[in-house]
Amino acid sequence: MVICLVGFMGAGKSSVGRALAQRLGWRFIDLDDLIESREGRTVAEIFARMGESGFRNAESNTLKELLTASALSGASMVLALGGGAFILPENEAVLQRDNIITVFLSASAQELWQRCLTKQTVGGDTRLRPLLKDEASFKQLCQERFPNYERAQVAVTTSGKSVDAIADEIHSALAASLPEKG
Ligand code: S3P
Repeated sequence: MVICLVGFMGAGKSSVGRALAQRLGWRFIDLDDLIESREGRTVAEIFARMGESGFRNAESNTLKELLTASALSGASMVLALGGGAFILPENEAVLQRDNIITVFLSASAQELWQRCLTKQTVGGDTRLRPLLKDEASFKQLCQERFPNYERAQVAVTTSGKSVDAIADEIHSALAASLPEKG
């Protein structure tokens, strides 16, 4: 079984994903980490060398390979996607084909912007975000993508909640669909 977290930059997909995986005793995979190790370059380097379209290709290919391998192994995992990965119809189609549970972590564009700025300046985030430019374009992209994120099966509001509280909320929301432990 695979639970996949989607949402815009700053939504908390990686930190919540890690906490949720720990609760479930499942593997945690961050798609951007996997892209970086597969390509031997950072996300920022891929954008700089191959443009956004080159990054999107690498992202789709990595996602497909990961899901194929996971279907073969049957091992459960929590997967955090990058903010743009759920927007491409072909990626959404692969997730649907494999019956992946999708969870949208939502927050207002203003809060997401503040979180990204804080993470970038105060620390906590090691990865540079090539699409984090100015406030207006960040918020515009966030609004454009919102309808796609809303297509996820479960939506969780993250404003004012701790990582653990959000992981607990997802865990409870999905409890009935999760396999028995043991
Ligand atoms: C992107 C978000 C990033 C990363 C890349 C592109 C996007 O991931 O995949 O910089 O298009 O929103 P995070 O959402 O984890 O920051």
